[in-house]
Amino acid sequence: MKIDILTIFPNMFDNIFNESIIKRAVENDIVSINIVNFRDYSDDPHKKVDDTPYGGGAGMVLAPGPIFNCVEELKTKDSKVILLTPDGIPYKQKNAYDLSKEKHLIIICGHYEGFDERIRSLADIEISIGDYVLTGGEIPAMVLVDSIVRLLPGVINEQSHLEDSFNHNYLLDYPTYTKPRVFRGMEVPEVLTSGDHAKINKWRQEESIKKTKKRRPDLFK
Ligand code: ADE
Repeated sequence: MKIDILTIFPNMFDNIFNESIIKRAVENDIVSINIVNFRDYSDDPHKKVDDTPYGGGAGMVLAPGPIFNCVEELKTKDSKVILLTPDGIPYKQKNAYDLSKEKHLIIICGHYEGFDERIRSLADIEISIGDYVLTGGEIPAMVLVDSIVRLLPGVINEQSHLEDSFNHNYLLDYPTYTKPRVFRGMEVPEVLTSGDHAKINKWRQEESIKKTKKRRPDLFK
């Protein structure tokens, strides 16, 4: 998979993909991640990317020109263009699975007080990572890339994402433990040390259901 992230704050991405699982996925050529500064695509002599809003109002608005130039240069028939904005569709694990099947993602990070409405026409999908407003789309882009790349074949053991919270059965994860068996008086549930795998699976399933009903009744539709 190829991912292009369009931003005017490329330094925000320094190191974020240079650790752990994402780093390994890049080194193993499972994904290539390119941070593209769309300021470089501005036709303005001062490389301006924003301007005042028509009709008045506070703040500056991202202009369409640089982002259109940039997307038009990068886009191929295999590209899916994503615009990050608080008024996009709420991002869910299902979206991460769907996007992990794509060949090329172009992710546009909005910024400042907003962006010119015509930029929306470039997007195949508009995504919000939650009902709160961030200073820009950079952190949401990191969230998307992390959640998508871990699902690419060969990045992590497939069994571990089949067991994720929010996988296709919409149950939260069951509790897990490691050694020691007793830590500060807190014991590992006996069933997990029983060696009886049928019993362990049944316990895990029940714990998942219990936790989901208690914490996220909304997922229990
Ligand atoms: N940009 C600012 N806030 C955002 C959010 N919650 N999701 C996606 N993009 C954003």
